[in-house]
Amino acid sequence: MKFFVDTANLEEIREANDMGVLDGVTTNPSLVKAEGNVDFHERVLKICEVVQGDVSAEVTATDFDGMMEEAHTLAQIHDNVVVKIPLIKEGIKALRALDDEGIRTNCTLCFSPTQALVAAKAGADYISPFIGRIDDISSDGMTLIEEIVQIYDNYDFETEVLAASIRHPTHVKRAALAGADVATMPFETMVKLLDHPLTDRGLERFLEDWEEYQEAKEEEAATAAV
Ligand code: G3P
Repeated sequence: MKFFVDTANLEEIREANDMGVLDGVTTNPSLVKAEGNVDFHERVLKICEVVQGDVSAEVTATDFDGMMEEAHTLAQIHDNVVVKIPLIKEGIKALRALDDEGIRTNCTLCFSPTQALVAAKAGADYISPFIGRIDDISSDGMTLIEEIVQIYDNYDFETEVLAASIRHPTHVKRAALAGADVATMPFETMVKLLDHPLTDRGLERFLEDWEEYQEAKEEEAATAAV
């Protein structure tokens, strides 16, 4: 499973990258807004310079021509840019046209298996089902991941399933069990994947025992020297 960090924050991206397990980055207009007064295109370039992997950057036009124009501009920023296209009718047309031009795409705002099926047929490189937002309305986001994985397997679609809107480590675990190709998550969640109280307690105990062992050895050496 590939790990992407879902943020436009350079510090978080650098920290995640330093862990050595980062495969890419996803951004969206809300995450860019959270960064305050930054130039969107400059930020995308900086992210690409930090991470060796795919970086999703989203169009904001909702008509075919507008999406194509933005997609061309974004794709020129860096080879690793993947253009994020919303899952609407005009978006499906844009996915097909961009695929024909060799521009890679991430189809976003997916909330149903049929949407995912159409996006794959249109040649999307990634499909982004939003797990957390489905959970938010008392439904089960993970069922959507399972169904999309099954459908794509049935027909050998090459579109990668990118589990998005991940809120906690259990989402990552279940997405991995369901066979999602990628999990994109907030940096905080990536760090939480490592948390376990027994690891902390175990390490504490090992270090205490090591210290006692060293002290005993020093005492023994001191006694022998007398
Ligand atoms: O980038 C898309 C997705 O990950 C958004 O997550 O938490 O805003 O639903 P969230």
